[in-house]
Amino acid sequence: MYLASSNSLSELFDPCSLPSVTSWQVRPIRNFVVNIIMPDAAKLLYNNHQLELPVITGTEHEIAVDISKLRGSTGLITMDDGYMNTGSAISGITFLDGEQGILRYRGYPIEQLAERSDFVETSYLLIYGELPTKQQLQYFKNSLQRHTMLHEEMKSFYDGFPRDAHPMAILSSVVGALSTFYQDSLDPRDPRQVEVSVHRLMAKLPTIASYSFKKSTGQPFMYPRNDLDYCSNFLYLMFGVPCETYEVDPDFVEALNLLLIVHADHEQNCSTSTVRMVGSSDANLFASISAGICALWGPLHGGANQACVEMLEQIRADGGNVKKYVELAKRKDSGFRLMGFGHRVYKNFDPRATIIKRTCDKLLGKLKIRDPIFDIAQELEAAALKDEYFIERKLYPNVDFYSGVIYRAMGIPINMFTVLFAIGRLPGWIAHWMEMHKSPTKICRPRQIYTGALKREYQPLDKRG
Ligand code: CMC
Repeated sequence: MYLASSNSLSELFDPCSLPSVTSWQVRPIRNFVVNIIMPDAAKLLYNNHQLELPVITGTEHEIAVDISKLRGSTGLITMDDGYMNTGSAISGITFLDGEQGILRYRGYPIEQLAERSDFVETSYLLIYGELPTKQQLQYFKNSLQRHTMLHEEMKSFYDGFPRDAHPMAILSSVVGALSTFYQDSLDPRDPRQVEVSVHRLMAKLPTIASYSFKKSTGQPFMYPRNDLDYCSNFLYLMFGVPCETYEVDPDFVEALNLLLIVHADHEQNCSTSTVRMVGSSDANLFASISAGICALWGPLHGGANQACVEMLEQIRADGGNVKKYVELAKRKDSGFRLMGFGHRVYKNFDPRATIIKRTCDKLLGKLKIRDPIFDIAQELEAAALKDEYFIERKLYPNVDFYSGVIYRAMGIPINMFTVLFAIGRLPGWIAHWMEMHKSPTKICRPRQIYTGALKREYQPLDKRG
C-alpha cells in the first residue's frame, strides 16, 4: 500500500521547486502496510472441485477470504445484499470495530483527536497519513486559506437554482462544476494535479456550502476571510453580512471543529464507497466527490441528521409522547424508523455519538440554551435503550442523533445539516480516493445474477397484443 509522500506538500506551492515526475515517487508507509499473511486457507468444495481461498489478515487481525480466483476456477460469483460481508478495499486509513465501539484515524483514537486536534490537522492526518510537523501544518493551513475564493463566474451558477433548492443538490452540482473551471488539475494520475485539486476542494467547499445558504436567504455572498481559521471562516461566510461586523463565537468554533473531526472518516461507508467506485474509472476528484455528496444525502446515511431533528420536532408537535414513537418504530408496517438510531457496523455503541452528546450537553449548558428537542432526544434514547426490540437488535444512537441539536444551537438551518456532514467527510473521501489510486485497484465492476426474460424475438408494434 502506498501513499503520496507528505514531503511533497511543501514543494507544491513553491514555484522554485515544482516537483519533477521523479520527485513525486510514492513511498510505502510501513505502519500501514497490510499484513497479508496466510496462516490458513479457506477451502471451498463445489461440484467435486476443491478450491483453496487465501485468507488475508489486517494489522488489527480482521480476516477476509480472498475470492479473486473464484469465478475463474469455478464459474461461481458471490451474492451479498448490501455488501454486508464484502470487503471492497485494503485500506490503511481508518480502523473501526463496531462490536467494541472503536474508531481510529491512522491509528489515533477518535476520542484523542476530538479532544486535542482541530479539523485541519485531522484532515492532514487522513490525507497524508501522519500528523503534520509545525511547518507542514502551517503550510497546509496557508494553502487552504489562499484557495477559499470561488471564481467570480462560478457565482452565476447559483442564479440558476431555485431559492428553495436543497443545499445538498447545490453542493454536488457546484463541486462537479469545479471540473469545468479547473481543467488544469483533473488528471488523477498526476500527483501534482491531484494535490492542487485536493487543496482547492478543501478550501472551497465551505464557500460553496455557505453560498447555497445565502442563496436561500437572499443575502449577499460574502467573500471568505483568509485571516480566519477554517471553522471561523465558515461561520463568517454563513452568518456575516456586509453591513455589520460579525463576531465569531469561540464556543461555536470549538463545537464545529469537534463535529467535523468526528465525521471526517468512517472507512467503507456508502458515500466513501461511492467516491472510490466513481474514482476507479479514473474520473477526476471533483466528479468523484460530487457523486459522494449525492450518496451522503440519503436519509439512511448522512441525511439522517436532518431527518432526526425533523422527527424530534414531529414528536414535540405531537405532545412529546416518546413511547408512542418507540412503539411506532417497532411496527414494520408503520414505515417509521427512529432516525439517528442503529448502524450497519456499530453493534455496541457509536463512539462518535458519545462524544457528540457530551459536547451537546456542554454547549447548551454554557450558552444557557434550553432546547426542548434535546430533552425529547434524551427521553427517546432512554426509552429505546430499555426496550427489548432495540436491545435485541443492538440499536443505539448514532452520530446523527445529537449532532442536529448542536447545529440548531449554532443557528444552522436544518437543511444545511447534511452539508455540514459533507464538509466533515471531505478529507476522508479524499484520502480514500488517493489511496485507491496509489494501490493496484481495478475499475469497480460487480457482477449479477440475471433473472429476466430468456432470449426472444423482437415483435413489430402492430404485432404486439
Ligand atoms: N428504527 C427501528 N428499527 C430499526 C432501526 C431504526 N432506526 N434501524 C434498524 N432497525 C431494525 C430493522 O427494522 C431490522 O429489524 P428486523 O431484523 O426485525 O428486520 C433490524 O433493526 C436491522 O436493521 P437493518 O435495516 O437490516 O440494518 P442495516 O445495517 O441494513 O441498516 C441503518 C443500518 C443505519 C440504515 C438503519 O439502522 C437505519 O435505517 N437507521 C436510521 C437511519 C440512520 O440513523 N442513519 C444514519 C446512520 S449513521 C451515519 C452514517 O454513517 O451514515
